[in-house]
Amino acid sequence: MDKNKIIIFDTTLRDGEQSPGASMNTDEKIHLALQLEKLGVDVIEAGFAAASPGDFDAIEKIASAVSKARVCSLARALEKDIKAAGEAIKGAKLGRIHTFIATSPIHMEFKLKMQPQEVIKRAVESVQYAKSLCDDVEFSCEDACRSDMGFLKEICDAAINAGASTINIPDTVGYLYPDEITARIGEIVKLIGERAVVSVHNHNDLGMATVNSLAAILAGARQVECTINGIGERAGNAALEEIVMAIKTRKDKFAPLYTDINLKEIYPSSRLVASITGIEPQPNKAIVGKNAFAHESGIHQDGVLKHKETYEIMHAEDIGLDKNSLVLGKHSGRHAFKDKLVSLGYELSNEQIEIAFNKFKALADSKKDVFDEDIRELVNDEFVGAEKTYEVLVLSSNSCNKGHASTALTLRYKDEILSDSALGNGGVDAIFKAIDRISGISGSLKDYQVKAVSQGKDALAKVTVKVEFAGEGAIIGRGLDVDTMLASAKAYVAALNTYLDAKH
Ligand code: KIV
Ligand code: ZN
Repeated sequence: MDKNKIIIFDTTLRDGEQSPGASMNTDEKIHLALQLEKLGVDVIEAGFAAASPGDFDAIEKIASAVSKARVCSLARALEKDIKAAGEAIKGAKLGRIHTFIATSPIHMEFKLKMQPQEVIKRAVESVQYAKSLCDDVEFSCEDACRSDMGFLKEICDAAINAGASTINIPDTVGYLYPDEITARIGEIVKLIGERAVVSVHNHNDLGMATVNSLAAILAGARQVECTINGIGERAGNAALEEIVMAIKTRKDKFAPLYTDINLKEIYPSSRLVASITGIEPQPNKAIVGKNAFAHESGIHQDGVLKHKETYEIMHAEDIGLDKNSLVLGKHSGRHAFKDKLVSLGYELSNEQIEIAFNKFKALADSKKDVFDEDIRELVNDEFVGAEKTYEVLVLSSNSCNKGHASTALTLRYKDEILSDSALGNGGVDAIFKAIDRISGISGSLKDYQVKAVSQGKDALAKVTVKVEFAGEGAIIGRGLDVDTMLASAKAYVAALNTYLDAKH
């Protein structure tokens, strides 16, 4: 084990998926796991196997798809959870079971209703059982940062003796200040020494997740748990890109510490997560926000033109964002398109390139300039997602400020062509009603967002919907088109397809 290497444990697929509205289907999870592997993360927490058959299935598929990163499943300190986790990661080249139990007085008394000594006993039994199923076991003390320090040390010690090789100290509610993290992690590192890797897992409730993760690293932690774009429960988790770029940029503070992250994959990973979850990073988000490398004021622009470093401590190209990249259009040929795919980091088969090229040509016919963002969305839209059981073939949509909107719609369903029409309280409502009539499944719309992918009046519209079908859990669907109404229809149909996929 290299003492200077910081292990990057990515939990976008587990804690990240716990963000309100961020649920992903199995196909999307596999795509994201492969991108995380390309990014160079060391551990992928692929989910919580006991949570649902869908979670189990996704972890199992990720375990066999990924070969370089370690694939991990979360498990409460319960035999049935640990058994499911062990089963789900069985096919992984490198696997890990991550088991946890709460250790703070408030969690033990009100949530677990257990005495501290019972908690230790359960932790030991769980780690031992996990170790019988997998060589690599991580133990987490949930709400560690509000736990009694003496008790924390006792349980960490017991977990190591039971076989844990990583001890994780989460700040589950994002409560501590950096100097408090420094002190707490420093003590734990001193106690554990070389016997296990000390890990941190910071939530962002007070906006301190990144700085607390960095403070923990300086205090001796050698694993950080984080998510792409900082997505996660409530205010989210520590953002992977912020931690990694701080270590890289502030060598004066962190050298010789390093990560194995392939920096140029940061931006593509961020875009993939935003595209799949429909959760865009805020524009001023560090590293990956739309404005992170934009210079607006004249004084700043002048400075940057004279010498980049006057106002830039990092460069957009470092994270794989090429601001001067070539814009494509309808005269761009196959060759230029292929080059563009390579420069954006896509590795597609010849057949996929052909499909993507035809989509690009159709787009370039209706839109003058095709930007990198358009191509990223186009490729993600085409190749990430559920089986296309239903497909939109023809849409006619009419709106009128005096009276109802109407829709006539034709969908392909497997080998059948189905048409119907509907009236609605606005164009989008009429479209969604027509889809419900054709499929015979009633959906209830929980959220609707529309965004221009790039600039200009002719920009591609990306619609993200959250729909509950037949009263079951909400499902996300995305649709892309230069016509916002068509993008809305595609998004709703995509959610319907995911629902049908999950049912089967
Ligand atoms: O925030 C937390 O405490 C967690 C643990 C399960 C690691 O996510
Ligand atoms: Zn967490």
